Amino acid sequence: MTSNKSVAVYGAYGHTGRFVVSELRRRGWTPILSGRDPKKLEALVAEHPGLTLRPASVDDPASLDRALAGAVAVINCAGPFASTSAPLVEAAMRAHIPYLDVAAELEANIDTFNLFKDRAREAGIVVLHAMAFYGGLGDLLATAAMDGWTSADEISIAYGLDSWKPTTGTLVAGQVSKQRRDGRRAVFADGKIAYTTGAAPSGEWTFPAPLGKQPVVGEFTMADTVTISRHLKTPEIRSYMTATAVRDLTDPNPQAPVASDESGLSQQTFVVEVLVRRGAEERRATASGRDIYGFTAPLVVEALERVVAGEVKTAGVFTAGEAFDARNFLASLSPAHLSLEMR
Ligand SMILES: NC(=O)c1ccc[n+]([C@@H]2O[C@H](COP(=O)([O-])OP(=O)(O)OC[C@H]3O[C@@H](n4cnc5c(N)ncnc54)[C@H](OP(=O)(O)O)[C@@H]3O)[C@@H](O)[C@H]2O)c1
Repeated sequence: MTSNKSVAVYGAYGHTGRFVVSELRRRGWTPILSGRDPKKLEALVAEHPGLTLRPASVDDPASLDRALAGAVAVINCAGPFASTSAPLVEAAMRAHIPYLDVAAELEANIDTFNLFKDRAREAGIVVLHAMAFYGGLGDLLATAAMDGWTSADEISIAYGLDSWKPTTGTLVAGQVSKQRRDGRRAVFADGKIAYTTGAAPSGEWTFPAPLGKQPVVGEFTMADTVTISRHLKTPEIRSYMTATAVRDLTDPNPQAPVASDESGLSQQTFVVEVLVRRGAEERRATASGRDIYGFTAPLVVEALERVVAGEVKTAGVFTAGEAFDARNFLASLSPAHLSLEMR
């Protein structure tokens, strides 16, 4: 294990970046605060006296090199990732350090896997993509539920959010993705992502108590569909989101998340249930916790610690479920950040 405890955080002053900075400090790391706006970085340093700030722009590779100099890894929290992933992965390759991000934009997710799969391997670095609530948690749960199965007939993911007060970053990322797919919806069927139009189907999903039976919107395809389909064999991935969260997200005047205590976490609660089916046999993995943005921090920092400790043995671009022992990883977040149930 390295004695270097410096980790560059790009997008450090964003809503999610701030949770990541706090989680790194809580675990004894020294974040290098980076992002494109020097004034916002200075305001963040005022909250974390003694930390180094390094402004950098994705259009200026030399500034990114300066931001990453001396760091043991970089965590990219600045989205839309369609703009930031590639320049930051390039910078991580030049610095020869691992790259982790929290991207949740289907098209940008696919691009990162395709663009850097070979190049990251050749450069000898680990790229852990979509290491966040969307993209990371569902993938870990699906991998844990498979528990040795080599394929499933169907994987379903149900997101039970009691509300979803989105950040600006979420809304902008959603717009970028929507534009890239001409307003169509993504669905995963017959082993691949396809695009469709028309209203999304609605239905009900019975979550464990206390959430219970909830109206849900179907074909709510998130980054987990990309990450799961990278390494688990299945022809069908179905995704469902609580209708109440969809209403919040599509509200013409969306409310931003509000901290409910000094941890900065909001009161939002989540349950993510993944069901894998093979023939008549079904297995479920369920995780519940609080605040999807806040939860992303322990998830990505846990991944960082494992990568730096050498747990990922080969170079390349990985998803959470591919890179780690999913059950062990999930267990390490429980009970502090997650309640877990496997059936
Ligand atoms: N997968 C998940 O579950 C998950 C969880 C959390 C967050 N995310 C994603 O992470 C991103 C950030 O979310 P957030 O909640 O932190 O939103 P946020 O509070 O709005 O922060 C967005 C951050 O990205 C930076 N940024 C935007 N465009 C940039 C560019 N072209 N170059 C450099 N920096 C840029 C912003 O800097 P400025 O203020 O200077 O514009 C800010 O630091 C979003 O894309 C969101 O979808 C995903």
